[in-house]
Amino acid sequence: MTTAQQLNTQFGIKDQLSFREDASGLIVADIHNAQATASLCLQGAHLMTWQPKSQAVPVVWLSRDAKLAQGKSIRGGAPVCWPWFGAHATEASFPGHGYARTVPWRVIASGTEPNGATRLTLRLEESDKTRAQWPHASQLDLTVTIGEMLRMELTTENTGTTDFVIGEALHTYLHISDIGAVRVTGLDGCEYWDKVGGSVLKEQAGAISFASETDRVYINTTATCVIEDDKLKRRIHITKSGSLSTVVWTPWIEKANKMGDMGQSDGWREMVCVESVNAIENVVTVAAGTAHSLVVEYHAELM
Ligand code: BG6
Repeated sequence: MTTAQQLNTQFGIKDQLSFREDASGLIVADIHNAQATASLCLQGAHLMTWQPKSQAVPVVWLSRDAKLAQGKSIRGGAPVCWPWFGAHATEASFPGHGYARTVPWRVIASGTEPNGATRLTLRLEESDKTRAQWPHASQLDLTVTIGEMLRMELTTENTGTTDFVIGEALHTYLHISDIGAVRVTGLDGCEYWDKVGGSVLKEQAGAISFASETDRVYINTTATCVIEDDKLKRRIHITKSGSLSTVVWTPWIEKANKMGDMGQSDGWREMVCVESVNAIENVVTVAAGTAHSLVVEYHAELM
């Protein structure tokens, strides 16, 4: 494994990007630039935090009980779900939301954008274990650009000679004042699979507000979503391309307690997931020799 010191030599950027080894042995990239701070765990290419300088509180939520551990997903941040979303279609023993979020990735590039934002690109490391679950010739890269805006680009390349199908998500947890005080707009009129109490197809009317567990897969939508937070007096805009599904999820108290890592004293109330996804009827066929990218941009504005 490449050490933090080697990564600092090869990819570190003075006063912007550095790497360190966490107590778990996992390597974390820390970004501090004139526009924002962020951190990303190389395992899973998992962005853990992002806070633009204009914001008094983080925009990306990380559970207070989040633990870094080899082979385990981190609660919060922006998990990369790939090459399937949710449960595997046929193999119950394969991990939910795919394996990308729990395997090592390696850094392949870093740089500074003309506007001063910091860019970091990682590539998933294949192994016998990943090939046993996904026997397709492919390359998966994630480029994260940290500035006043957060941009994430997940690119799947089919390097083989036969087409394959993927499900995927940037499963981002966003920091809010309180789940009872926010609305998500942008999905009015959209159809969604309501995963609470069986999968039923419904149609969204108006903005989404929350009073109980919510787990919905909106389909056939390219819409920008906005989280309107009256208490924090801010809006978080989520703009995407290469994604036709949007998942809106809050576990509510019972599920959150069962999960055990959502943060003491109602930590779950301070997050909502608005995920940019390709799932169910929106899974993507990547033809042999082609590539597909899912791109999401986040920015926060004060009202
Ligand atoms: C959401 C799913 O995307 O992720 C939910 O729609 C799921 O059903 C949630 O509970 C969290 O998943 P996990 O595997 O990170 O606990």
